[in-house]
Amino acid sequence: MAKMWAGRTAGNTDQVADDFNSSIRFDSRMYKQDITGSMAHAAMLAKQGIITEDEAATLIDGLAGILADIDAGKLEIDMTAEDIHMFVEQELTARLGDVGKKLHTARSRNDQVALDVRMYLREETDGIMAQLRELLEVIIDRAAAFEGTIMPGYTHLQRAQPITFGHWLMAYAMMILRDLDRFADTRKRTNVSPIGCCALAGTTYNTDRRFEAQRLGFSEICRNSLDGVSDRDFCLEFMSACSILMMHLSRMSEEIILYSSWEFAFIELSDAYTTGSSIMPQKKNSDMAELIRGKTGRVYGDLMALLTTLKGLPLAYNKDMQEDKESLFDAVDTVKMCLAVLTPMLATMSVKAENMKKAASGGFINATDLADYLVGKGMPFRTAYKISGQLVALCIKEGTVLEKLPLETYRTYSELFDKSLYDAIDLEACVNRRISEGGTSRESVRAQIAYVKEKLKP
Ligand code: ARG
Repeated sequence: MAKMWAGRTAGNTDQVADDFNSSIRFDSRMYKQDITGSMAHAAMLAKQGIITEDEAATLIDGLAGILADIDAGKLEIDMTAEDIHMFVEQELTARLGDVGKKLHTARSRNDQVALDVRMYLREETDGIMAQLRELLEVIIDRAAAFEGTIMPGYTHLQRAQPITFGHWLMAYAMMILRDLDRFADTRKRTNVSPIGCCALAGTTYNTDRRFEAQRLGFSEICRNSLDGVSDRDFCLEFMSACSILMMHLSRMSEEIILYSSWEFAFIELSDAYTTGSSIMPQKKNSDMAELIRGKTGRVYGDLMALLTTLKGLPLAYNKDMQEDKESLFDAVDTVKMCLAVLTPMLATMSVKAENMKKAASGGFINATDLADYLVGKGMPFRTAYKISGQLVALCIKEGTVLEKLPLETYRTYSELFDKSLYDAIDLEACVNRRISEGGTSRESVRAQIAYVKEKLKP
């Protein structure tokens, strides 16, 4: 195909070089943004008297026709075109003749591509934020249902203190809430218009950048034209937010995988979100959770790829920057897919409360409470800690647990023990006494749920 930029050179590039240079394979997904952006550009050119109102109307009409035809599947995007911008302009000129050639006045593909990416990402960010809200709704719903379901809390993957499954879920709610905030924040810097920066230096035409920006829903314009065409910070910020989110989803997935194992058997995923083995008939594998954990690596990779691409680039546009899109699109697609599978997986997972309780009942998870009991009777914490440790050692030696040790034995370690100690080390009591803000008691978990609900209010 004849190059639109043929002029200084004849534009007869090598076929392999053409394929290498072309970005249409991946940037065609921005056809809607490209066309809408061009419509606003035509309107601005007319408002400023750079083209006539009639010409603008013809251009906008032509562009609308192309958009409708692509949407309806009547116009196929030509994969031999250099990129989506060239394709649309070529098609427009084929349809309208010379008027079509006026569209590219007072702009460049450099500001055009930056505009398209920002418009695309703004929309995807909104979609991801809606998915995060949905996920949070499911998490708080389930947390309320399991506010009294006791399980072991772990440190070093060793049983540490009793918590509730509701409390566990709310820990993830807090992480996702921060993720939501990160996306909202990066969206602010994405929603800034680069159009009108032109190739790098601005333009001699009397354009109105703010009019065009406003028409496209931007809240600001890039204040320096060199920066406007060179900046991909918003992509990096978005992918950082994606990476942190994926890290959270991956940790949660890891726990889901662990808790679904026979060894733990705390939860069971619904059949819809598990797979079987082709050879071992007994298997029910948490493939979806494993894939979320696995795909986290590729999202980190997407971020690293663009950071590395940008680090040595001189101002302003360099073709290296065409590499921004594949990693960005991959991060968008991956995050959306992971959220789409995680939310219903959590909503349908069943919880085996008896197994959680049983696991919490062994392992001396109430030893801290035993020490706190003695502290309540006036003993210094360090001394109480030591006595509790000795009692645990005794239980291990005799193959018993703190709840079953007779009062006489307790009293040989300290006169402060009386039969009220058994109530103090009861798991239910251990949990519900942890009323400090953010703690695991029913009351405290309810307050956490209320907090997230408040934050989710529009
Ligand atoms: N396909 C290019 C990209 O994705 C569009 C910008 C091309 N600009 C240029 N001066 N060659 O970055």
